[in-house]
Amino acid sequence: MVYHKDIIERCYQRYPQTIEKARKLLSRPLTLTEKILYNHLFDQNMVAMYERGKLYAEFQPDRVAMQDATAQMALLQFIHAGRETTVVPASIHCDHLVQARDDAETDLKRALVENQEVYDFLRSMALRYNIHFWEPGAGIIHQIVLENYAFPGGMMIGTDSHTPNAGGLGMMGIGVGGSDAVDVMVGIPWELKWPKIIGVKLTGKLQGWTSPKDVILALLGKLTVKGGTGCVMEYFGPGARTLSATGKATICNMGAELGATSSVFPYDEKIAAYLRATGRAEVAEMADTIASHLKMDEEVEAHPEKYYDQVIEINLSELEPHLNGPFTPDLAHPLSTMKETLKKENYPVEVSAGLIGSCTNSSYEDLTKAAFLLKEAMAQGITPRSKLYLNPGSDRIRMTLEKNGILKIFKDAGVVIFSNTCGPCIGMWDRYDMAANTPNTIVTSFNRNFAKRADGNPHTHAFVTSPELVVALGLAGRLDFDPRVDTLSLPDGRNIRLPEPKGEEIPEAFSSDTQLGLLPPAEDPKGVRIIVSPTSERLQLLDRFPAWNGEDFTGCRVLMKVAGKCTTDHISMAGSWLKYRGHLDNISNNLLLGATSAFSGETGRVKNLLNGEYQTPAQVARAYKTSHIPWVIIGDKNYGEGSSREHAAMEPRHLGGVAVIARSFARIHETNLKKQGLLALTFAHEEDYEKVREDDLIDIPVSSLKPGEMLAVVLHHSDGTNETIFCQHTYNDTQIAWFKAGSALNLITQQGKK
Ligand code: F3S
Repeated sequence: MVYHKDIIERCYQRYPQTIEKARKLLSRPLTLTEKILYNHLFDQNMVAMYERGKLYAEFQPDRVAMQDATAQMALLQFIHAGRETTVVPASIHCDHLVQARDDAETDLKRALVENQEVYDFLRSMALRYNIHFWEPGAGIIHQIVLENYAFPGGMMIGTDSHTPNAGGLGMMGIGVGGSDAVDVMVGIPWELKWPKIIGVKLTGKLQGWTSPKDVILALLGKLTVKGGTGCVMEYFGPGARTLSATGKATICNMGAELGATSSVFPYDEKIAAYLRATGRAEVAEMADTIASHLKMDEEVEAHPEKYYDQVIEINLSELEPHLNGPFTPDLAHPLSTMKETLKKENYPVEVSAGLIGSCTNSSYEDLTKAAFLLKEAMAQGITPRSKLYLNPGSDRIRMTLEKNGILKIFKDAGVVIFSNTCGPCIGMWDRYDMAANTPNTIVTSFNRNFAKRADGNPHTHAFVTSPELVVALGLAGRLDFDPRVDTLSLPDGRNIRLPEPKGEEIPEAFSSDTQLGLLPPAEDPKGVRIIVSPTSERLQLLDRFPAWNGEDFTGCRVLMKVAGKCTTDHISMAGSWLKYRGHLDNISNNLLLGATSAFSGETGRVKNLLNGEYQTPAQVARAYKTSHIPWVIIGDKNYGEGSSREHAAMEPRHLGGVAVIARSFARIHETNLKKQGLLALTFAHEEDYEKVREDDLIDIPVSSLKPGEMLAVVLHHSDGTNETIFCQHTYNDTQIAWFKAGSALNLITQQGKK
């Protein structure tokens, strides 16, 4: 048994009481989203009314999942909490770092060598702290979660945007950054803005070539990539009950493309069937005992417009297959419009490659449908005109396909079987069949299609669709092929129409080894040594940030006064820097490289006041740090928007920064700064931003930091004049204690020792 029965039991025991409390409090019936949220409040005595889209609440999710790229910094921080194990169950999934090139076996072998130090570190952390570790090739994070951990009515966070995939089983999955994972693993309340709720009523039943993927592709067309921001997508209605659990998961997975916080389906017989098929009959039985709490109240389903912020209705019987793209997943093309679109747009019509699988579309149903079409075509002597590739979602799926002869169909059709990892979905595709920068078209059953996402080529036009359409278009080799009306020509000159795809929702039996690739726990966790080479360029054990020395900050230099937009990506760039995400000192060299200086107008360059030279912010910060000069960043509006990337807060702290004073903050980044022991202040009068000069020395009376009280900050100008400006903050008592301890984790360790 891989799942944690005690966690599910605890979650389910709370439900009847919490729901009753919440219903009384709100004096109305509840949506499923509200039930899950209320049942996971950190402090169950604090059930309060939360205004949707406005107020933040504190939660304790049931579990944490981390993929190998984002897990590194989260776990390096976790060490500092001084815990013997994580407060809630956690898992690590090695899926992002494997490059797809030749085939599963060759690619995996190469990745094991290339990423050995990362895998060794993650493995040792898992053994030491009793975290589940899924080896490279065991499967993609969300598929493994669906097959093993997700349960109806649960709440989990994952350090990957497509964590909402778990909503297919009725679990609220939320994609977060590493620092959120640290909070939950160490037992700090985890904050989330109470979401708005979009109700999606599904009626009818999917027909012919239409698949669950088309539900979300159509929604993307309606709502765009921003339409779900700050919302949970809650599906319901008779149509929802006709969709397989894995089909529901596909829809929830791509809620991330809408910008939605999460997506969720109510518990039903399809979900129970999937739980039973994947060795979790016990979980289905437990869910059955509180089934009424694992769906929205009947009154909500009857009058959705009264309880949701927005209601959208989709009749599955009338839905068309879609192709969304290129370059954005919300450019939705119903299949019947594609020929017209291609007359107007200059998209390459020839399909150079088709990608099947990934965390989005790897179910038995998806892959049996794809294989069915290939088999039918090959029986007529037709082989795919485009190159096809398959990334199975897990080893369990791959082995089941192998056992049932499905994998052989793919292989016979010439489909390249990559490893059970992300590969082309995250740009880890060494695509040697296409010269760099060649304009071309690919079709993919994955979820994202931004420029360069799959193969790094900005001229690859990627269209997102269902696995069965990927196969159909791959067989035809053309983007304007509509299998409902068009025919494929046979070598003997005859033309045939492909039959409608048929698949099996659930196999008779999944491969019996349910723990493929899961590392057994250590017999003596305390005896496990954490493996980090001192000479590694990719990993570095963290030093604890020093506690506050009790003195006011005086004579602070301005490292950079940022002009305009400054996202966490401007503060800590991704791209080639990602390989250092487990090495704080190395990745700190990217500090503010994407930000623009208000003084010089230059991006990623600031004046070093010690020698007058213009250098990168990291170079200047290191110079100040060596000279024991504290420094601050001056931010503009909504400083730190974009993501919860913890590096954006850790880097300034590591390089000697003491404060960020901004016109305003993005809330998550502001909290991250507080957690890392930096001061996050805002100008009481926004226009005071203009008063800060390049060569100012700044005094911050931090010893008077108290909740709700402003700080009088003094700007000493080089012409001998001084100006006092007032700065606000949002520190509460706990957060002030974080600051004094040097970081939130330092405080937890201190408290643990008491
Ligand atoms: Fe991996 Fe792509 Fe899913 S990167 S986790 S397969 S969205």
